[in-house]
Amino acid sequence: MISVVSVGSLKTSGSSTVALTLASVAAAADIPVLLIDAARDGDLADWAARGAVPSKIWVERSRDEAAMERLVRAARKRGDLVVIDAGDEAAMIRMAARLSDRALIPVRFSPLSAQYAVETDRMLADDAGRGRRSRDRCFVASAVATIPSRIARSVETIIAESATARLPIGLVQRAAYEAPFLLGGTIFTLEEEVAPGLDRARAEAASLAYEIGILGARQEKASPARREMVRKAA
Ligand SMILES: Nc1ncnc2c1ncn2[C@@H]1O[C@H](COP(=O)(O)OP(=O)(O)O)[C@@H](O)[C@H]1O
Ligand SMILES: [Mg+2]
Repeated sequence: MISVVSVGSLKTSGSSTVALTLASVAAAADIPVLLIDAARDGDLADWAARGAVPSKIWVERSRDEAAMERLVRAARKRGDLVVIDAGDEAAMIRMAARLSDRALIPVRFSPLSAQYAVETDRMLADDAGRGRRSRDRCFVASAVATIPSRIARSVETIIAESATARLPIGLVQRAAYEAPFLLGGTIFTLEEEVAPGLDRARAEAASLAYEIGILGARQEKASPARREMVRKAA
């Protein structure tokens, strides 16, 4: 079961957006979630400070290994989901990956982002090879745009260098994903008037969470809200 997920890449590639979006899906499905902001800029802590944080989401700013480990251990014990935004620093990405069941490496559809994603994957593979607990890693497309297929092909080629899988679902570039950072709240709590395209963003986000194993894994004790969301995402 996936209880702890980390998100980070050595190049800024949508980590905070992916992390907040996944936490938002969980909260909307009634799953308590600890969102750890370990990124240098503290974008998720700033997001929380805007208010309208759903009651199921608890945000902690932590960049200290021992403190982060304590937070994760306590959340695991409670059965909560943990999403860590590790940002773009090597030390934080490694630390977060070490604490998580699955490390997500976001990839924007740009060759540069893809190159750094592969470098991130290599760094985490080295750690895993050094006797650290072996962790699951995958690439996740973030902010997918309608772009010339030449660029898409080069991104695919770069990512294919690695044996690490790319999830079949990612996040398309949508204003709806940016709205929470501007207005507070989540794609599930904002109104369509202020953030058009929420419906598609919600469905896509739920599919991604399902694919990662955040939604489906907790099915046994699922609330009606959660079951409905899983049914729609599947
Ligand atoms: N799926 C998306 N749709 C639209 N904008 C996005 C998406 N993902 C990221 N962005 C935008 O790209 C920028 C960088 O994303 P962010 O999540 O902050 O990346 P990081 O945390 O890796 O620096 C932000 O302005 C964010 O709003
Ligand atoms: Mg960030």
